[in-house]
Amino acid sequence: MHKETLLNATEAGAKVLQYYFNNKDLRISNKEGINNLVTEADHASEKAILETIRQQFPDHFILSEEAGEIAMDSEYKWIIDPIDGTVNYAHGIPICCVSIGLEHNGKMLMGAVFNPFLKEFYFAEAGKGAMLNGEPIQVSAQTEVIKSCLVTGFPYTYLDMPNGPLECFERFIRKGVPVRRLGSAAMDLCWVAAGRFDGFYEHKLQAWDSAAGFLIVEEAGGKVTDFAGTYYSPFQPHILATNGKIHAEMLQWINDKI
Ligand code: IPD
Ligand code: CA
Ligand code: CA
Repeated sequence: MHKETLLNATEAGAKVLQYYFNNKDLRISNKEGINNLVTEADHASEKAILETIRQQFPDHFILSEEAGEIAMDSEYKWIIDPIDGTVNYAHGIPICCVSIGLEHNGKMLMGAVFNPFLKEFYFAEAGKGAMLNGEPIQVSAQTEVIKSCLVTGFPYTYLDMPNGPLECFERFIRKGVPVRRLGSAAMDLCWVAAGRFDGFYEHKLQAWDSAAGFLIVEEAGGKVTDFAGTYYSPFQPHILATNGKIHAEMLQWINDKI
């Protein structure tokens, strides 16, 4: 029942994304920061997702980007990004998705990420592997950072901190390592899981950006940690997700130890 609801909720949100995509009259407003957008599609997608989940599980805890917390005394927590990649979406760029993770007693149980424009539906369940459109996926086999294709993202408000996102980015680029910037952390993670990217890092994510995607990477055989390399929780800002084989070396690059 949990899985069915997760898949239905993800599809319900994605239908809304399709409905409003490229609509010239799409209402767009600003959140904190200059280009931190929210559109009526974000709200409508969230509404469709919440309705689907709450119909089945009215007493589960919900954390959703636009609605915030619907706090319940429950072992289950749904962590929802109704559109990941809103800036892309608002510009008609089809690199965006719905991302939903389901936690049980603080452990990620399942995650779903659906990009209806590319027709890519990613799903993972703890201990049961990761799938793209029902087919098993695996991380890449690359063993060297210098030969890797990486992806990253930047926060809406630049983080002025030592060894921040731009310093890190520059380090890779100066050495000739290709680092892409797609604008959707959930897609970035899924593309690591699918073996397209060898690694993804970002300095400031929210729980809803990574909740589903990090499980999908782990279940595809990859590794996900914070920048200390010890553990990963979507409730702290740093993420390094790799195929596992370049993880230790990536930590050195990120922490300026190369
Ligand atoms: C953003 C995207 C982007 C990442 C930002 C996120 P949103 O999410 O995932 O790739 O760099 O940090 O906030 O705002 O499109 O849901
Ligand atoms: Ca997001
Ligand atoms: Ca969002």
